[in-house]
Amino acid sequence: MSEMDSSDSPGTTVTFATTHSSWSRRDFIKGVIASGVSVSGMSYFGAGCTTPLPAQTGGVERLLSLTVNGQVRRVDVLPGETLAMTLRYKLGLTGTKLGCDRGECGACTVLIDDVNYYSCSTLTHRVRDREITTVEGLESPDGTLHPVQQAFVDELGPQCGFCTSGQVMSAVALLRANPNPTRQEAREAMAGNLCRCGAYNHYLNGVMRAGSEA
Ligand code: FES
Ligand code: FES
Repeated sequence: MSEMDSSDSPGTTVTFATTHSSWSRRDFIKGVIASGVSVSGMSYFGAGCTTPLPAQTGGVERLLSLTVNGQVRRVDVLPGETLAMTLRYKLGLTGTKLGCDRGECGACTVLIDDVNYYSCSTLTHRVRDREITTVEGLESPDGTLHPVQQAFVDELGPQCGFCTSGQVMSAVALLRANPNPTRQEAREAMAGNLCRCGAYNHYLNGVMRAGSEA
């Protein structure tokens, strides 16, 4: 998996910055420190969603235009707000899950310019000029599931389902970069997405099925 601003995942070594981005863990931490805002979810929720605040704080423009699932969305974003918080609690896109909220589990995975990233470890202000895709943006207008979603259903990937949207996003990113991965390549690409239900082989089967049907 390619993670932007993510930390190590069990069983694999992942870098905080991807080869696709110059962003790094240091950039993320510097951004948060500069903002003077805690990365705690509750602090966002409390300050960002329930308390009216002026449009600008400390010279940082807060009213952003974000391109999400092909639509431009105007949203008021705190200086140190993570993309996961913006998507879930400002834009109502709750398909993106928050598990650890610290770059370890992959539940919050979204695509940024077709690359999978941990949205809990990505500052929203850093993606204002990027194309963001969440799991809500994958299916066709008529409701037809994305091939990866359908393959995961066919292979019985989702158990409790909490990790599923993150697994889907990482699989989509993989197949866009490498439409015919080997099983080992797929296993490595999905290593940043944990599944407490242990459905790893089901998800892998789904990735391979979607790749072969693409
Ligand atoms: S990696 Fe983002 S919620 Fe766990
Ligand atoms: S399906 Fe339950 S955590 Fe993965």
